[in-house]
Amino acid sequence: MLLPVIIAGGTGSRLWPLSRQLKPKQFLKLCGDATLLQQTLRRLDGLEATSPAIICNEDHRFMVAEQLRQLEVKDAIILLEPMGRNTAPAIALAALNAIQTSRDPILLVLAADHFIADQCAFQKVVLEAKKLAEQDKLVTFGIVPTQPETGFGYIQRGDDLPITGYKVARFVEKPDLMRAQEYLESGDYYWNSGMFMFKASVYLKALAKFRPDILKACKKSLQQGQQGQQSMDFVRVDAEAFAQCPEDSIDYAVMEKTDDAAVIPLDAGWSDIGSWSALWDIGKKDAQGNVCEGDVLLLNSENSFVYADSRLITTLGIDNLMVIETKDAVLVAHKDQVQDVKKIVEMLKQSG
Ligand code: GDD
Ligand code: MG
Repeated sequence: MLLPVIIAGGTGSRLWPLSRQLKPKQFLKLCGDATLLQQTLRRLDGLEATSPAIICNEDHRFMVAEQLRQLEVKDAIILLEPMGRNTAPAIALAALNAIQTSRDPILLVLAADHFIADQCAFQKVVLEAKKLAEQDKLVTFGIVPTQPETGFGYIQRGDDLPITGYKVARFVEKPDLMRAQEYLESGDYYWNSGMFMFKASVYLKALAKFRPDILKACKKSLQQGQQGQQSMDFVRVDAEAFAQCPEDSIDYAVMEKTDDAAVIPLDAGWSDIGSWSALWDIGKKDAQGNVCEGDVLLLNSENSFVYADSRLITTLGIDNLMVIETKDAVLVAHKDQVQDVKKIVEMLKQSG
């Protein structure tokens, strides 16, 4: 049985000023007519799978429930985290909860904030990956890298496996620029897409081996949560117990350490929409290479991304700029520097 698990607890600070703590990017309509979470759910249409599990922050529960309702997704499990502890614990909660209610399902772990252009190609690869997961592999989906991006994990392709896919020779989470450049040039590395597939039991076994502290804290949080107040609509964990859980990503906690990882190449127009320039990359461009959203008027402007949320924006003679307007804040940035929006968010936090 295939259980989609959607991790939706990130903050998306590189897409400020649109993405905010109370409404991070996965819950926004950044491209197209549906939010990124909804696009992730729609991407599963036609796949033979059970209702999904979504793991998100407590504060976002009604937004998630409403976005599921709009798509008429029934019987979804919404697991609530009182605070973020990164992806290793989030996936552990989903795996522990799944194993209680059904017999060791295969989890298809998807980030809630990715864009995939070719749904058909994506589903084909998922079905191939399932065969690897059935053989107790921890499967990752590898993207052929195009630049020395330091915000991604890198997967070195190992030996061919008897069915489609490769052994993972090495997994390096977020290398520095020099190593990223080396990996790019070597030609035998993929980017980790941040999507995974494995049996619930296989993930929990790996966590027991490499991070027993995380597993223990998650078990306790879920058990104590279940003894506490529960509602029909949400699965809650105990806040005090979960606060004690160490913070770590699945990439550092498990994928860098395990010998049982497999990688399957994915060529489906994937983007993790990590920054405003990524939205420009995937957006529909006019003849001058501009991507526009909302009420905008551009003259003699090129290769820019202009997003108007609440007012008319006009530009004259701009080139390679990102202009993002919201009711209470405006960002104007050069395309080459939009990764650093995070720094602005930090500065704003510090200045109160
Ligand atoms: N429930 C929950 N709780 N979800 C979380 C949490 C958490 O504490 N932290 C992050 N997430 C969700 C995010 O919403 C996102 O969908 C996904 O997990 C990945 O988290 P990011 O914070 O976006 O990770 P990243 O982009 O730095 O790195 C990961 O993704 C890259 C590809 O986009 C890694 O897996 C990299 O190896 C990978 O290359
Ligand atoms: Mg990400």
